[in-house]
Amino acid sequence: MPLALITGTSRGLGRALAERLLAQGWTVHGFSRQPDAWAPPGFVAQAVDVGDPVAVRSAVAAITAGGATIDLLINNAGAAAMNALLLTPPEVAADLIRVNYLGTFHCLQTVGKAMVRARRGRIINVTTVAVPLALEGEAAYVASKAAVEALTRVAARELAPQGLVIAAVGLGPVDTRLTKAVGAAPLARLNQRIGRPAGTTIAEAVDFLLGHALDPHLANGSIHYLGDFPPA
Ligand SMILES: NC(=O)c1ccc[n+]([C@@H]2O[C@H](COP(=O)([O-])OP(=O)(O)OC[C@H]3O[C@@H](n4cnc5c(N)ncnc54)[C@H](OP(=O)(O)O)[C@@H]3O)[C@@H](O)[C@H]2O)c1
Repeated sequence: MPLALITGTSRGLGRALAERLLAQGWTVHGFSRQPDAWAPPGFVAQAVDVGDPVAVRSAVAAITAGGATIDLLINNAGAAAMNALLLTPPEVAADLIRVNYLGTFHCLQTVGKAMVRARRGRIINVTTVAVPLALEGEAAYVASKAAVEALTRVAARELAPQGLVIAAVGLGPVDTRLTKAVGAAPLARLNQRIGRPAGTTIAEAVDFLLGHALDPHLANGSIHYLGDFPPA
């Protein structure tokens, strides 16, 4: 039975990704700071702050202790904030780097070591269409996800010889807690800009993400944006 580790499974896209993989027969481990009582068969939650490298190492060790190998890591845990650049509090910028970039870095590094030992594994990092659009009002968020994309490309080059495939998937607006603070008008404008005027449901976002994550021909280091973008 294949095994996936997904970060950010306490709600939103991470929860929906976990549900889909469980339905397909995967064993799924989930990290989030506040996992709830959701415990379907095949799902194992751990309370982990992905920005804490010691916590990440110990939680990954708990998964692999009995000899289990992780086939797929989805670095999904994330946070966002909308602020005019000149008014963004420094602590907001630091927090977004800590969760979005460093959280991805710690999980990729720790799980990557286990995958290198197994000489195979796949890692998908979740990014956003706001990066290629250089979206105004989201400078700190965009910068943190641009770092995730750069990490994806370098990791893919370094770890391809060890049998790993690493890519990123960039989503447009999806109705989760992450977008609750954003007004309907900016979300509609963004959906127009990416050629998806009707928006994207959580199920469609999961289809898009897992379509790439499970694609046997997924190109190492590739970045796939939902919507009208040339391939990156
Ligand atoms: N929704 C969108 O429109 C959209 C668009 C583009 C990209 N994305 C990306 O998609 C991903 C998922 O977002 P979402 O919309 O599902 O957001 P969400 O509903 O706010 O869920 C975020 C998840 O991340 C977890 N998380 C946050 N900080 C964490 C930390 N330090 N350690 C461990 N887990 C943490 C949260 O759990 P706890 O709070 O329990 O820790 C939660 O499970 C993010 O990377 C986001 O940037 C979303």
